[in-house]
Amino acid sequence: MKFKPADKIQDLQYFGEFGGVNPSISDSSTYTFLSAKTMFDTFEGNAEGCYLYSRHSSPSNLYLGEALAAMEGTEAANVAASGMGAITPALLQLCQAGDHIVSSRTIYGGTYAFLKNFAPRLDIKTSFVDITDLDKVEAAITPSTKVLYCEAVSNPLLEVADIAKLSEIAKKHNLQLVVDNTFSPLAISPKELGADVVIHSLTKFINGSSDTVGGVTCGTQDFINALRSVNDGANMLLGPTMDSLRAASILKNLRTLHIRIKQHSKNALYLAEKFEADGLRTVYPGLKSHPSHELYKSMMNEEYGFGGMLVVDAGSLDKANELMELMQQKNLGYLAVSLGFYKTLFSAPGTSTSSEIPEDEQKEMGLTDGIIRFSIGLDNDIERTYEMMHSCMKELNIL
Ligand SMILES: Cc1ncc(COP(=O)(O)O)c(C=O)c1O
Repeated sequence: MKFKPADKIQDLQYFGEFGGVNPSISDSSTYTFLSAKTMFDTFEGNAEGCYLYSRHSSPSNLYLGEALAAMEGTEAANVAASGMGAITPALLQLCQAGDHIVSSRTIYGGTYAFLKNFAPRLDIKTSFVDITDLDKVEAAITPSTKVLYCEAVSNPLLEVADIAKLSEIAKKHNLQLVVDNTFSPLAISPKELGADVVIHSLTKFINGSSDTVGGVTCGTQDFINALRSVNDGANMLLGPTMDSLRAASILKNLRTLHIRIKQHSKNALYLAEKFEADGLRTVYPGLKSHPSHELYKSMMNEEYGFGGMLVVDAGSLDKANELMELMQQKNLGYLAVSLGFYKTLFSAPGTSTSSEIPEDEQKEMGLTDGIIRFSIGLDNDIERTYEMMHSCMKELNIL
């Protein structure tokens, strides 16, 4: 039977402390014990249902984690203060000094910077590969490799990872396949396709209101327990803990995610088809011209479409900048990084979110100067939006 992530969220039932339909927010950093023995047992990890200290876990964070684990079909999940606060501890939990990671080269700039510049300080090295070339992926694996890392749909070039095939490679070489699913929540279910660990920046579509940063790691109960271990758990010891008030507000936003994703995808597909017909180089997994269109189709939970992210080449950085400024003036969206907001957001990734990637590597991966990354909003009348964007492009001689 096909996995239905929104049903999994719908089916969760909460009875708050006072019968509220939303669970009560746990506004405590520490918790009392009626017996000293239970406190000892909790430290030892043996007291199910007891809370100790909120850096370890708190009721509100567990509620959100439970919902996200349900969405991804994993046994458990651990929420964190940001997407990077989920990614870096997960990788540090899986790797130690001397280990090696094989990573897609088209990933979020912060993750790239961590792997390229920070992890080597701990003697964890990374080989960056074209994730769509499975032979290259396998060739990069060494006896020290522990992790295969990718984004389901990559930032910013919207490359699609063949998660099932990558999972076969990972299993063959005894690696953990870690997939960042930030760009494609609900639409792609990496665990169902064979991923071991699924990560999200909640900052983006899942929260959807650009009012907080947040992250989550979804995996087996054993792995989530390991991240939280008081002795050697990377989340527990590095301390990127989400605040309970935020966990409660993200949980409420999660409940409308299915409706939002459908609208983001519908709007993005409409614009992608129009821009491509206008003759602009347009990258969108929903277009037949996208090299991984069929692959995405084979992996997707159909009703959620091809996502809200869209890339257009305005020809040059100057043109891209002029267009973004004009679109902002005309109230078509905001010149801002990040994604998943109700209004369209646009940025030039080469000079912003992917600026950590050296220029020659950007060129090699097709990240040209004129590229604008759009996170398409929830506009009710997308034809009107298109007409206005089209006239901005005409005014600037991009069309
Ligand atoms: C794909 C992806 N993963 C992870 C992150 C990092 O998330 P955060 O900014 O919440 O730390 C981002 C942020 O832009 C992202 O786009």
